[in-house]
Amino acid sequence: MYSINTRAIVLAAGKSSRFKTNKSKLLYSICGQPMILYALKLLKNLGIPTTVVVGYQAEELKELIQKAGIDNVNYVYQESQLGTGNAISITKNSWDQENILIMNGDCPLLTEEIITQMLDGHNNSNASITFLSSHSLNPDGYGRVIRDGKHISIVEDRNLTEEQRFVTLINSGIYLFRKDFLEENIDKIEIDSVKKEYYLTDLVKMASDQDLKVKTIPVPYDNIRGVNTLEELWAVEQIQRSNFIKYWMTQGVRFELAQNIHMDFDVEIGAGSFIGTGVHLFKGTKVGKNCTINAFCIIEDSIIGDDSYIHSHSVVQASKIGCNTHVGPYARLRKDVILGDNVNIGNFVEIKNSTIGDNSSAKHLTYLGDSIIGKNVNIGAGTITCNYDGVNKHKTEIKDNVFIGSNNTLVAPVVINENAYTAAGSTITKEVPKDSLAIARTRQENKIDYAKKLKAKSKKETDNKDDLSSSKNKEKNAKLNFVGATKTKNMQNL
Ligand code: UD1
Ligand code: CA
Repeated sequence: MYSINTRAIVLAAGKSSRFKTNKSKLLYSICGQPMILYALKLLKNLGIPTTVVVGYQAEELKELIQKAGIDNVNYVYQESQLGTGNAISITKNSWDQENILIMNGDCPLLTEEIITQMLDGHNNSNASITFLSSHSLNPDGYGRVIRDGKHISIVEDRNLTEEQRFVTLINSGIYLFRKDFLEENIDKIEIDSVKKEYYLTDLVKMASDQDLKVKTIPVPYDNIRGVNTLEELWAVEQIQRSNFIKYWMTQGVRFELAQNIHMDFDVEIGAGSFIGTGVHLFKGTKVGKNCTINAFCIIEDSIIGDDSYIHSHSVVQASKIGCNTHVGPYARLRKDVILGDNVNIGNFVEIKNSTIGDNSSAKHLTYLGDSIIGKNVNIGAGTITCNYDGVNKHKTEIKDNVFIGSNNTLVAPVVINENAYTAAGSTITKEVPKDSLAIARTRQENKIDYAKKLKAKSKKETDNKDDLSSSKNKEKNAKLNFVGATKTKNMQNL
């Protein structure tokens, strides 16, 4: 419905100088989503055609927006960042609707409900401008809404008088303008003598001076927080993350130390699950029901089946874990790993691009890369798949019910067939037939009583050495005594 009479303009050309990082603040992620996408996704969901004003790092921003599949936008390029008034004036050719909704790109916590409420309020009034305002106990940096009887204006932070500085009603930077008002007045804004910028906010005073109606809609401060500094970025991310965590608490998820967890967008957690201290759940992650993700795990773009247990300090990336499976502590599933049900992956095990069937286990100190491992397989401690020959990667196939002894080196490409055993310490370079035992290590030889002889021999050698050194020491001491005696004698002569 709003798409019929509203066009949005999102301001995204600014230099973000208060970030002091030489990177547009709109490229920074908040809970895994770049800041600019918050405004644009909201407008896309409401079906409002949008113009984005780009300038500083325009190409990076456009690429990011395109990649996110935002297709209801066109771009206007602002050559020099001459202020928000200038940024809007150069978009004139896009004003094809009755109402123009203007949003700062740095206001990520806004909701669809608030914008819908604003559009309804504006459409049902004869206001030339409707804008969102809020009370903030710390209004520094924001433009203040100054009322004088019926007259209303916005005064920018740096232009406030001492008295106005105490005003806590702030301008959100989200406005709806009637197109004809904008057309008549946008080029009448005068440049600010202090900052040498054109302030869009001057239009509020201009409308009020003309006795035109200006409507303000009060909204919660947290929803219109602007992000000008890294501290404000941290604050909005904190709020966004807390909102996610609170939501999952209502869905039956227990957090050990909720204030200590990172959580992105696009994360799901099943009821009955437990999330330990310091856990990072990055976007694309789905944790099943009754799972435990213990302290300091990092789970990224991965799916974990019901009743599974990820022990502390494990890293799981772009992988899929079945049900009732255990991983870690200190395990790493490094991309494209598929674990079946009831699998047991223990400490210091790294797995990459591999599939491991149900009921299999690799419990200690192992590297499995580019391998296909069947069901009921046991991988002994210290086993390594040698998947890389310096040029190419090769596959290791371990079929169902195989037992790989401890400290095996499996040189890929290699196949170990059903029910086979490999002996501990083996270096397997050839296919192992099914039901066989492969031993690939030097045969052990026992030399009876040889240890005793060795001991006796070493003892004799040590005794000889001791004798030699003690007689040498005696000689040395005798010499020293002699020198000492001579010295004493000489002294007595003095
Ligand atoms: C602006 C408002 C202020 C309000 C606050 C709310 C003005 C003059 N002031 O201040 O009243 O309380 O937002 O958060 O509008 N931009 C451009 N081109 C430019 C300058 C800025 O596209 O030439 C973009 C920026 O990238 C940013 C947005 O406009 O996304 C707002 O600019 P910013 O400098 O953050 O304005 P504030 O000082 O926060
Ligand atoms: Ca701002």
